[in-house]
Amino acid sequence: MLDILLRNVRLPDGRTTDIAMADGLVVHAGAGARAVEIIDCSAFLVLPGAVDMHVHMRGGARESRKEDWGTGSRAALAGGVTLVVDQPNTDPPLTTVEALRARVREAERDSLCHFAVNAGAVPGAPLRDLFREGAMAFGEIFLAPSTGAGGITAGEMGGLLAEIHALGAPVTIHAEEVKGVPGTDLASHGMSRPAEGEIRAIRKAQELAPRGMRLHFCHLSTAGAVDASAPHTSEVTPHHLLLSQEDFPAGDPRGKVNPPLRSSAERVKLLAAWDRARVLASDHAPHTREEKGAGFTRAPSGMPGVETLVPLFIPKVLSGEITPASLIEKTSVNPCSVLGIPAPGFRPAQRADFALYPKEVTMIRARDLHSRCGWTPFEGREAVFPSTVILGGEVVCRDGDFTRGNPRWFPGRGYHP
Ligand code: DOR
Repeated sequence: MLDILLRNVRLPDGRTTDIAMADGLVVHAGAGARAVEIIDCSAFLVLPGAVDMHVHMRGGARESRKEDWGTGSRAALAGGVTLVVDQPNTDPPLTTVEALRARVREAERDSLCHFAVNAGAVPGAPLRDLFREGAMAFGEIFLAPSTGAGGITAGEMGGLLAEIHALGAPVTIHAEEVKGVPGTDLASHGMSRPAEGEIRAIRKAQELAPRGMRLHFCHLSTAGAVDASAPHTSEVTPHHLLLSQEDFPAGDPRGKVNPPLRSSAERVKLLAAWDRARVLASDHAPHTREEKGAGFTRAPSGMPGVETLVPLFIPKVLSGEITPASLIEKTSVNPCSVLGIPAPGFRPAQRADFALYPKEVTMIRARDLHSRCGWTPFEGREAVFPSTVILGGEVVCRDGDFTRGNPRWFPGRGYHP
């Protein structure tokens, strides 16, 4: 007897089939069989669970007022994300084996979705031990200061990249340059972290990297940066693709993020580069409404986004603006290949994580979302949220109700327990 049978699933190539699951994996794609639960998917767009390879879940002893693994993972599942990769600019920073172990324990206790944890790469950090302890990747490595992280120098960067390459670990880079005084509104914030500086930082990292090393560049803000990052992989975010400085009042800290939102003309060019960016990730930074209300210079940079990552793009799939295959590549196939994680999908032996999206467009409202931060930069935008989410072959979210299934930790490939 199978666990779940999804009937009449339309595959990205246009064929319709049944997908059978057992023991957390897809076991059969073809004509149906008997199962504990049968779900007719004729009315749904079915996508493999998304992997958001760039979230800041916060939590820990010092940050639990903001977001924690309980609220953040509910937000993830409610948006069709079944695996998140947490970034290391936590408080305290994730640069010791003890901090990594504590972070994994915290997520094992509270997370409702699968998770992986990156380690920070700063001079003096025990990179070999962190990789053996299960760090998924090193980074994001900050080339310029950002929320909760100082930048590192070019000399330090060269040494760290050599060490990471010798370990065979993935590395992710936050490429930015900061110049002049900090901004006092969105335009001056953008000028203090210019688009050309992002491109220079990308080139610098490429020059410093040992021959043959693969780099992954996080949250690029312009099409020029995406092109400069080739042949390495790059990630784009919904906020840089869909929002620009003009969408916020000039001094509104909610639009403050690093790298900054650009002009609407730049945003349109970035969206046109959709096919050239390998990964779509949220950079979910769930600073609270109160923190964002502290005035422009004091407010932290960053905006929430894990729950809206995929839902913002479903209307574009339904209208034919983007293909379902391109969304699947950027939200599950490619992040998994960059990190070396087995991908969820429709074929036998693939992980049985799926999200079922109705074909009716709704509107994003902060009050309907699950992050503790209490706001969204996408208020009022069109989206489609999944009505059913399957994790490891079990329904874990249905019409807004969550069940704890079997969320797992995905250690990196250096893990030696
Ligand atoms: O705006 C940002 N906020 N950019 C980052 O890279 C970090 C993030 C955060 O952690 O809040």
